[in-house]
Amino acid sequence: MASSSHESSSQEPAFHDRAKPFDENPDVETVAESLAPAMTYGSYLKIDELLSLQQPVSRPVEHDETLFIIIHQVYELWFKEVLHELDELVEFLNDDRPALSSHQLVRVLKILKTLVAQIDVLETMTPLEFDSFREFLANSSGFQSAQFREIEFLLGLKDRRHLERFSGNKREHDNLQRRYHAPSLWDAFIRYVARQGYEIPEDFLARDVTRATGYSAGVQQALIDIYRNDPALTRLCEYLTDLDEGLQEWRFRHVMMVQRTIGTKMGTGGSSGAEYLRSTLFRPAFPDLWAVRSAF
Ligand code: HEM
Repeated sequence: MASSSHESSSQEPAFHDRAKPFDENPDVETVAESLAPAMTYGSYLKIDELLSLQQPVSRPVEHDETLFIIIHQVYELWFKEVLHELDELVEFLNDDRPALSSHQLVRVLKILKTLVAQIDVLETMTPLEFDSFREFLANSSGFQSAQFREIEFLLGLKDRRHLERFSGNKREHDNLQRRYHAPSLWDAFIRYVARQGYEIPEDFLARDVTRATGYSAGVQQALIDIYRNDPALTRLCEYLTDLDEGLQEWRFRHVMMVQRTIGTKMGTGGSSGAEYLRSTLFRPAFPDLWAVRSAF
């Protein structure tokens, strides 16, 4: 990168241009009017269906299983929303729209804070209360959350073994396989950086995207240049660091919650439990962003 005062140029429209203004959209009134009589809060949000989905398996039914089910379902809904937002973020990066990318990232960061905070609720459950229904969970475990693995793959934490574990469910397997073969958010970001004129090594740009993101000295050099000279791109780098830190924070809170709930017992998914989960800590999705911290 040649320039010493590089600023990422942005000609992208403001956020409000994403939707047509109400008075310029003749369809809005007609659609609202035609739907108004039939649509209610309950029918729009499918509340009947939603509230019928919490089905405890313990017999007799244990009080705390309801919390356990709801919190997992809420997580899966947020995971769906995170994927929805991150997919659009990748599109914004591919379309060279940095301001919208930042906006999108901030939303995901707020969701991540909510995901971490929810662990507080689960931690009101004592080891005895969890044990009252644990045997009924059989081998089911958060380890089998396909959407969690989708988020990991999208962030660049690719691991083929996870893909193979989902071969029993075609929808989950197809979704994961698509993400496994797609460039990650980090790939999209670095390609965007390259299009802004920063020198990114050809071997990074042509890399096998099914491999987990590793360290790249060339990428780190570009990041150092960005931090020194480009405030707009620096902001994006910092948001990505927040995202990476946020996911690691969730892992840490989850393992502490597991440890206080089941101690050193094995997980229902068959792992060594807290010991296995500790091995997943401090493994960043964007290692180069962390590596450059000591360069200043
Ligand atoms: C009492 C509550 C919980 C306990 C005791 C617990 C326990 C565990 C254990 C022991 C594992 C390791 C795999 C295994 O052998 O099962 C695990 C993995 C996992 N759990 Fe939980 N968990 C709880 C709540 C949650 C919640 C609410 C979520 C939200 C979706 C969640 C998501 C996950 C995920 C995504 C993994 C895989 C982590 C990885 O492989 O990196 N867990 N859990």
